[in-house]
Amino acid sequence: MGKNFYNIEQLRKQARKNLPDPMFHYMEGGADDEVSLERNCKAFDRYQITPKSLRDISNLSTETEVLGHKSPLPLILAPTGMNRLFHHHKEYAVAKAAEKQNLIYSLSTVATTSIEAISNTISSPKMMQVYIHKDRELTRTLVERTKKAGYSALCLTVDTVVAGNRERDFETGMGLPPKFTLKSIASFLLHSYWLRHAFINKGFTLSNLTDYINKDEMSGMSPAEYINNQFDRTLSWKDLEWLRNHWDGKLVIKGVQNAHDAKTAETIGADAIMISNHGGRQLDGSPAPIDSLKPIKEAINGQTQLIVDGGIRRGSDIFKAIALGADAVSIGRPYLYGLAALGEEGVISAISILKEEFERTMMLSGCSSLADIKEDMITPY
Ligand SMILES: Cc1cc2nc3c(=O)[nH]c(=O)nc-3n(C[C@H](O)[C@H](O)[C@H](O)COP(=O)(O)O)c2cc1C
Repeated sequence: MGKNFYNIEQLRKQARKNLPDPMFHYMEGGADDEVSLERNCKAFDRYQITPKSLRDISNLSTETEVLGHKSPLPLILAPTGMNRLFHHHKEYAVAKAAEKQNLIYSLSTVATTSIEAISNTISSPKMMQVYIHKDRELTRTLVERTKKAGYSALCLTVDTVVAGNRERDFETGMGLPPKFTLKSIASFLLHSYWLRHAFINKGFTLSNLTDYINKDEMSGMSPAEYINNQFDRTLSWKDLEWLRNHWDGKLVIKGVQNAHDAKTAETIGADAIMISNHGGRQLDGSPAPIDSLKPIKEAINGQTQLIVDGGIRRGSDIFKAIALGADAVSIGRPYLYGLAALGEEGVISAISILKEEFERTMMLSGCSSLADIKEDMITPY
């Protein structure tokens, strides 16, 4: 395609063009009225950056340490399930793009590529995200496989004990593998590139789970049905202790939204907390992660890194998160738009756009390094 994209919104528009409705809306949508989804992005506009003038910014560094990894940017790629829905190169394309940019890649439990396949593809730092299934043996095995495959971090997502109410998926009839319903068939036919590859390159299975879950039972299930059938509702902080004892690499808790939980996670020994509302896909009405950052930062003892996750669409959003006390941010949809737009090249585009925007924001604000980005440069609007 060889197209030049100069912002994330352009990648989003291309993703919209390339994907049949069920796939696009599964990626794009949020829960219920999508209040949190919208809030996640808009909240960044309520913080203004007051620049500092006449600082020598000729030696710019955006380097930092995230989860023990010397990262060129305070950015990681968040775990997102079922990437095969968006492009036939699926998780491979995202992982390879992350490796090329030396950023931490996260693989979802419900990925369409296995733990081992990713570790055979990239040698850069990787994080495996786990959901706790009712079948504890399954979770224990996933952790063992993650260890064996050489991942440096494990991430427990705590905001998905039941599925968020994603109404767009009811509308479009989203399922895995994709269902051809009367409603969706026209949309599939209008997206011939996607459709052709759906037949040539299948790969729509939940690769990490195929050995444990009955294939016939799972076939055609919506993501919500899968979560409500399989995930463990008894999940509690005791399970986090259990996980800490079974995993001696970096441990990340994803989906923490209040100061009390953050403190508990820190006490149990979490190396990082991802302040996240799952991109507005779980509890609608929950706060934008950027707004939860300061109270959480003030409550913890600085023993755990803070990663803000949700609504990042511009490099200036990264700047604001760092200024308000985040160690890094993570992105989901921005790289998925890139994946759907252009495969690996599109993911690289998404990362490069955010990198250039972040660097420009730093220079225009008089900051040469992350240490120069201070809270007093941010005022609520
Ligand atoms: C299509 C899609 C699938 C996702 N799948 C997962 C998942 O399997 N596990 C998880 O912890 N979070 C998942 N998330 C949430 C992301 O990790 C991340 O929290 C969210 O995308 C951040 O918001 P953003 O999309 O505005 O960047 C998913 C998000 C999207 C958009």
